[in-house]
Amino acid sequence: MTPSSRRKFIRLFSGGLSVLPFLELSNPLYAGEARERMLHANSLDASSMADDEDFWGWVRESYTVSPNIINLNNGGVAPQPKVVQDTHIRYYQYSNEAPSYYMWQILDQGREPLRERLASLAGCDKEEIAINRNSTEGLNTVIFGLNLKAGDEVVLTRQDYPNMINAWKQREKRDGVKLVWLDLPLPMESDDEIASRYINACTSRTKVVMVTHLINWTGQIMPVRKIADAVHAKGIQVIADGAHTFAHLDFKIPDLGCDYFASSLHKWLSAPFGSGLLYIKKDRIRDVWALLSNNEPDGPDIRKFESLGTRSFASEMAIGAAIDFHEVIGSARKEMRLRKLKNHWVDQVKDLPRIGFNQPRTPHMSCAIANVSIEGKKPEEVAGELFTRYKIHSVAINWEAIHGVRITPNVYTSLKELDKLAGALRKMAV
Ligand SMILES: Cc1ncc(COP(=O)(O)O)c(C=O)c1O
Repeated sequence: MTPSSRRKFIRLFSGGLSVLPFLELSNPLYAGEARERMLHANSLDASSMADDEDFWGWVRESYTVSPNIINLNNGGVAPQPKVVQDTHIRYYQYSNEAPSYYMWQILDQGREPLRERLASLAGCDKEEIAINRNSTEGLNTVIFGLNLKAGDEVVLTRQDYPNMINAWKQREKRDGVKLVWLDLPLPMESDDEIASRYINACTSRTKVVMVTHLINWTGQIMPVRKIADAVHAKGIQVIADGAHTFAHLDFKIPDLGCDYFASSLHKWLSAPFGSGLLYIKKDRIRDVWALLSNNEPDGPDIRKFESLGTRSFASEMAIGAAIDFHEVIGSARKEMRLRKLKNHWVDQVKDLPRIGFNQPRTPHMSCAIANVSIEGKKPEEVAGELFTRYKIHSVAINWEAIHGVRITPNVYTSLKELDKLAGALRKMAV
């Protein structure tokens, strides 16, 4: 790192550069074009931008899309735009010049400004955001960190994510916490019906309700706010698993009314692999023990969840470039575009007699993710054929009563690619 790039890096965090400071530092030329694109997009309404193929073509060019396969499993993990990859690589190389100096004295200065940027995107106070590695880490921190005793009840569903289900099972085995299971008949088309299942499962012993904000198996968006408002009135705390919603849907974390929320930034924010955030409402931070050792494990400082030991600060710092890139697209524009992409292929095949869907039909209850089935074929057969015959990468889902192939486009997915998917499904379903 030259003295001038070190000065630039430090100046970045005193707020000196531009509206897209991380991109500016990484690639000024690209940042200039991104700024113009953003200004143009901001001058139009979000719904008309969802159809602006020139804008989305530029977004696609910003990624390093595989020329060999069509990636429609962006739900598992997303790729990063080239500018995010470049930022990451550059910081990694800086770190390697003298790790303990560049990582722990220079890059480290970026953590608090990054926390501010993340908090601003999340719509909360920066003292409510811990920067970590993924949703599993964030949610396990809360699940293992809450003071619960034998007989306390926790409401969760068989459709939640395995890493969280298993963490709760561990608390059941170790501490005698009682797990109260819901078995949701997905897809469900009524927010009220979903909410009432959670509310009716609560008793005077219920201490926690965990809700997966967006069910990864099918794409169902859950009415967290409705559930939270109702159970808070009974003194029950709410954990939201936001692995799939942060930077996918246009919302602020406090809109959900939950006490705890965690997300993986390598999913919809397109940040480096192994980056995440944990939100804890300020007055709840003391109630959660630090998962890893800290000198004040029951203290009020959100940073007690960041005692992770040595890790790559380069990937953490490159989150900033992903936030800038996301701001250029804009949360409202992104949600509308993603819903349009999902509808684009679903509408082409939905009336075919052998095709079925596992995501809800009600427009606000799903966004990018859909889950399709073909009568008479197993999900792995459909996913296998999509890949071998059409080079379309998807994922077969067999979880509880859910059987289908999950299809997840991202902002860089083209309409032509989705036409190809629809054509393939049409042929497979005749
Ligand atoms: C609903 C849900 N929660 C949590 C996770 C875990 O995410 P990570 O592996 O990034 O911790 C996932 C991953 O797909 C998920 O879909």
